[in-house]
Amino acid sequence: PVSLAGRFQGSFAYFTIKDRLPQILTKVIDTLHRHKNEFFEEHGEKGIEAEKNTISILSKLRNELQTDKPLVPLDDKLCDVPLWNQYLEYQQNLLDGNEQPSWFQSPWLYVECYMYRRIHEALVHNPPLDDYDVFKEAKVQSFFESQQAIIALCTYLQELLKNIEDLDEKQLQEEFFRLLQVSLWGNKCDLSFSAGEDNFQKASSLKALDNLKTFILVDDTEDIWSLLINSKKRRTSKDVTRVDIVLDNAGYELITDLVLADFLLSSKLVTEIHFHGKCIPWYVSDTTKQDFNWTVKQLQSANNRWISRCGMNWEGSIKKGVFVYHDHMFWTLPHEFCSMAQVATDLYTELQKSHLIIFKGDLNYRKLTGDRKWEFTVPFHQALNKFHPAPLCSLRTLKSDVQVGLKPGQGEQFVTSEPDWMICGKYGVVQFDASL
Ligand code: F6P
Ligand code: MG
Repeated sequence: PVSLAGRFQGSFAYFTIKDRLPQILTKVIDTLHRHKNEFFEEHGEKGIEAEKNTISILSKLRNELQTDKPLVPLDDKLCDVPLWNQYLEYQQNLLDGNEQPSWFQSPWLYVECYMYRRIHEALVHNPPLDDYDVFKEAKVQSFFESQQAIIALCTYLQELLKNIEDLDEKQLQEEFFRLLQVSLWGNKCDLSFSAGEDNFQKASSLKALDNLKTFILVDDTEDIWSLLINSKKRRTSKDVTRVDIVLDNAGYELITDLVLADFLLSSKLVTEIHFHGKCIPWYVSDTTKQDFNWTVKQLQSANNRWISRCGMNWEGSIKKGVFVYHDHMFWTLPHEFCSMAQVATDLYTELQKSHLIIFKGDLNYRKLTGDRKWEFTVPFHQALNKFHPAPLCSLRTLKSDVQVGLKPGQGEQFVTSEPDWMICGKYGVVQFDASL
């Protein structure tokens, strides 16, 4: 099927490119402007100069976007540049001779990723701001605004860990279901969705889980449970069971992922968790290594003893090597995951070591399925288009126009009753694919 794109007027892709992306650029410009004094204090005139130049590049970028100008090659010194420029050429080759890839004509997934990469390029060209994270402020703010939810979740986990050794299989299964759902609903809010406004998790979803069940459109949790419990039963003391979590947003969602990870380790369902984050600031709230480390440190020094205990345990797990953080530039390329084996062979090989890969969030879902106009009933396995490094699942709330693996009629029922069902973040899926 064809890729989603801004040229489909009235689609969510169209709306995103027309309104949401320019708004995000405006926010970035505003953030740089507001931190002017800080840049001056830290770097003197050079800081001010860099701020001015970056703002002017970004205003130009916003204009290119709004007037549907051709996409231009990247020209900074980062190692992903050749891959980006080859991708542009590839997009060019798909078109008639006199057409050029552009913001509204090219695939939405590509142009949206390209915007975030161009923001980064503007900064890279302007040292001393070359490693400045323009989204850090929004991420930190949303973390603090979610304090109540974080307290509730960390308290729950610490209570659970007290007697985890005594739980029977059924109780363990119940807890697994619960914490998997918490991690799913942790994806409800991301900062690119609302251009960073009013988008924090005020209350932990723990109490609401039963009511939220009807909003899970596909729920393969049973299959995921079978995989984990069977591997636990088969495991000898020397064996490793490894789960990989391809992270999405920092803030509350990251805490839900760490809580799930801690539970999987403490219950001995698995022996190692590998986290995958982004190398550069991405889609506003996505987790970078800096965010990951900042979060664990922040928790450790919190006033609440359950939160600080979580922080200390997680720091300990990192030191012991049972929590491992990875990043790879593939995650910030525009490519669909089915091209990972060719484009990032090392990453694909790394993921093949996993017993289960959990892909968090909407963007990962778009990349898993190629961000195409699939029929709702196409099987998840088919949409993956031969991407099978290991058994995998997606925990995703619906925030964009792509959904597969539904029952006949299941999607259609919303089309008239709830036209924004695919983009409002109210619905979620837990979709699993076992086959290799
Ligand atoms: O703007 C595109 C988009 O994929 C949205 O549909 C979604 O809100 C956001 O970016 C990313 O969401 P997530 O953080 O869940 O990947
Ligand atoms: Mg995100």
